[in-house]
Order: sequence, then structure tokens, then C-alpha cells
Amino acid sequence: MLPTIIVHGGAGYWADELDAPKSEFIIEAVQIGYDILNSGGTALDAVEKAVNVLEDAPLFDAGRGSHLNIEGMVQMDAIIIDAVTRDFGAVAGVEQVRYPISLARRVMQDTPHKFIVGTGAEKLAAELGIPLVPNMWFVTDAELAKYRLRIASGTHDTVGAVAIDKDGNIAAATSTGGTSHKLAGRVGDAPLFGAGAYADNDFGATSATGVGENSMRILLSKVVVDQIVTGKDAQEASVAAIAYADSIFDDSQLGVITVDKQGRVGAAHSTAKLACGWVNTKGQPQVSMKEGVHADN
Ligand code: GLY
Repeated sequence: MLPTIIVHGGAGYWADELDAPKSEFIIEAVQIGYDILNSGGTALDAVEKAVNVLEDAPLFDAGRGSHLNIEGMVQMDAIIIDAVTRDFGAVAGVEQVRYPISLARRVMQDTPHKFIVGTGAEKLAAELGIPLVPNMWFVTDAELAKYRLRIASGTHDTVGAVAIDKDGNIAAATSTGGTSHKLAGRVGDAPLFGAGAYADNDFGATSATGVGENSMRILLSKVVVDQIVTGKDAQEASVAAIAYADSIFDDSQLGVITVDKQGRVGAAHSTAKLACGWVNTKGQPQVSMKEGVHADN
């Protein structure tokens, strides 16, 4: 089948002048993921490498550029799901791991566990040779200024990717620095299986963004895939899941990206914007900050 990938750089509101630089990183992430898929690589490799691009990009709330917590520290969470083996790995509260999504993958592949947090996760990263950097490496001038001025970010620029490869295998990945001014030790939805991401090799996969305290209360990503199970395509399922969230919360502030088993992509959000990018049926990278996925996907 034709492989495909869709990535996101979070939901929320940001100034329009940030759309162009965010788009450049989104397209780079889509292209790297799609190149892997196009050369016969796995969906798992594609989502990991696409998310690595966005973890390094300073304009998103993951890796470098993460929001600061109430103590001025970066604490990051991530999950990766391999739907082929119905397996996942997750980390939370990591402060020095340059690529949390890659550590999550190693948790899945190289330990008997699924979810490792804090100093234990950092120690594992060191043992596995995963790059560690000082916490200040993640702190951008923009985030430091917001922290000093106590300006709450209006964005939830968590990053994520979902993909299906030529063999029809599906993977999902989500990585985040969490919410700005969060309490130390706060963990959001991102690393929670079914909330921040979900993938089922028979139906599809979703990566979520937005207010984690809402997403985790309804297992947002699982809600999307459950909608695919009822017969909806990726776009219809994404819209239905956000409508469901909106029926429960006054101001849900959530976003999702989705791929279904037929290789169709979808995206929906209840925020002003959702930064997302995908490849269309001609293999060309597309990007959107507001309108979601276009019909020619
Ligand atoms: N959705 C990311 C978070 O709330 O941490």
C-alpha cells in the first residue's frame, strides 16, 4: 500500500507570524518521516525520526523549546506505540534527555517495562547511550521570557506523528514539555496509552495535543480510534472525537491527528489553530495551521 505520515506541532493560539517558521519545521519532519516510509522503512522509524526533528526545533513544546514548569525547569514526557506488536514505551518527567521519544522507544524495546519516570529514566538513558544534555539546553529565550513575566502560554505545542508503512503497519508517537508553569512533577496526557496516543494495527492511530488534563479524562486518542472501528475514516473520526470532547468540557482545547488502515489522514481541533503536516496522495508535503487536512489527502 501507499505509505503515509501526518505530524503535528500542537494546538492553541499563536501569532500568525509564527506560522511560516513552524511550517518549515513541520514540513521537514513530514519529509524525513516520508523518506523513511518511501524507501521501505517502518512506520515506527518514521514517527520516531519525524518527532526527533520537532523535539530539536525551538518553536514547539517538546525537547528544546519546552515550556518551563513553576520552578523554571523543563520536564518532558513521551510515548511511542508500535501497533504491529501492540506494544508501547513511555517516559515522564525527564529533564536531560535530548530525544524523549527515542528513550521511550528503548523502554519498549530494551526493558521488560512500559513506562519509566524521572531519575530512573535518566539513568536508563545514560546506560543505553542516549544523548543527555543540561536542562538549560532545552530553555529558549522565548520560554524564559514568558516564565520571568509569568505569561501563561496560550499554546499546547506538543508534537506528534502517526504513520502507516508499505506493509500496512501503523505507529504513533507523542512528545511534550507539558503545560507552562505546571507544578513540578506534573504529568499530562502525552505519555499515557490511549490518551496522548493510541494505535491499533487493524484500524488506525492518533496522536493528541492540547490540555492534557482534559485528554486524559476521556482517553482522547482511544476515542478517535474507536470511531474508526465504527466505520468512520480518519478525518470523520477525528472530528467526532473532538465533538465528543466538546460535549463534555466547556472549553476542551484539544487537537488530534489520525491515520486509518486505508492510509487516509485526518485532523481536528477545538483550539484556534492546529499545526499539522502530511503527505498528500501524490507524496507531496502539505501543511496547515488552521483549516485541517484538505480533501485531496
Ligand atoms: N498535551 C500535553 C500536556 O498536557 O502535557
